[in-house]
Amino acid sequence: MDNTGLPSEIRTLLKEKNAVLLAHYYQRGEIQDIADILGDSLALSIEAAKTTADIIVFAGVRFMAESASILSPDKTVLLPKEEAGCPLADMITVEDLEAARREHPDAAVVTYVNSSAEIKAQSDICCTSANAVKVVNSLTGAQKILMVPDGNLARYTAKFTDKEIIPWKGYCPVHHFITAEEVRAVQQRYPGAPFAAHPECSPAVLEMADFIGSTGGIIRYARETAAARIIIGTELGIIHQLKKNNPEKEFIPVSEKLTCVDMKETTLEDIRDSLIETKHIVTIPDDMRRGAHRALSRMLALS
Ligand code: 13P
Ligand code: SF4
Repeated sequence: MDNTGLPSEIRTLLKEKNAVLLAHYYQRGEIQDIADILGDSLALSIEAAKTTADIIVFAGVRFMAESASILSPDKTVLLPKEEAGCPLADMITVEDLEAARREHPDAAVVTYVNSSAEIKAQSDICCTSANAVKVVNSLTGAQKILMVPDGNLARYTAKFTDKEIIPWKGYCPVHHFITAEEVRAVQQRYPGAPFAAHPECSPAVLEMADFIGSTGGIIRYARETAAARIIIGTELGIIHQLKKNNPEKEFIPVSEKLTCVDMKETTLEDIRDSLIETKHIVTIPDDMRRGAHRALSRMLALS
C-alpha cells in the first residue's frame, strides 16, 4: 500500500482539528517522524498535562492515553488502536492490590505508570522508570513501600533507598526475558561497547549494564557518551530515534526479539482514521479519575 501521502494528510488533520500527536519511542519509525512530541512516559505525561490543544492523539499504549486523559480531563484523548494495551499493566487487579494492602497495612503504594487507571486510583503516588527512586525517597512518612506492578523496577529502586521495598510479581514480557547470556554474547562480539538497559530488565541483566535508565534516559546517554558503539537493552523502536539523533554512532540491540507487539499495533492509517472519525476516545469514570489524578499529579509535582 502506498503511504507516501499519509504523513502530510495527518499533519493537515492535526492542524485543522487543533490536535497534538504524542508518540512514545517504541512506536514505528514513521510515526515517530511526524509526532509533535516524542518522549518517555514521564515526558509525555508532562506534555499531556500542559498542552493547549483540543485533542491529544496518543501513539502509544492504553495506560499512556489514560494518563493523558486523567491529567487533561477537558481534552479529547484518542487512542488510535483501541486494543494497544500493556501486558505488564494487566498483571495486577484491584482485588490483588486490596489483598496486598491488607497484608502490608503500613506500606505506602507506589504504582508504576504502566498500570490501569483503576490501580492508579488506589495508589498513594505514581512513578515512571525515570523518577522511581526520587518518588520513593520523597515519601518521608513511609518506611515500607509496596511497588506495583513491575517487580524488576521495584528491585532496581530498592538499591537506592533505605526504605523497605516490597516488589509486586509483575514483569514486562519484552524486557524480563532478556538473558545475561544474550548480553554476554553481544558484549563479547563488541568488546568495550557500553551496555544501556531499561530498569524493566531482570536484576542479572541490570548487573551487567553501564547505564540504566528510562527510554528518555537512554536517548540522552547515547547522545552524551563518547562511545561510538552502544549495546541497547530495550524495545527495538528506540533504535530509530537513536540512529536519527546520532548518525555517526552504531547501536546494537542486545536481542532482535525485543518487539512490543502492542506498541507496534498503531499504524499511520490508524492515526489518520482516528482524527477523521474522532476515535477511539479514552474515557475514565469521574471517581476513578479523581483518585488517579491525585496519584499522578503528586508524582508530577516532584518533576
Ligand atoms: P519509559 O517510561 O522508559 O518510556 O518506558 C515505558 C515502557 O513501557 C517501557 O517498557
Ligand atoms: Fe508494556 Fe513492556 Fe510493551 Fe512497555 S514494552 S508497553 S512495559 S509490554
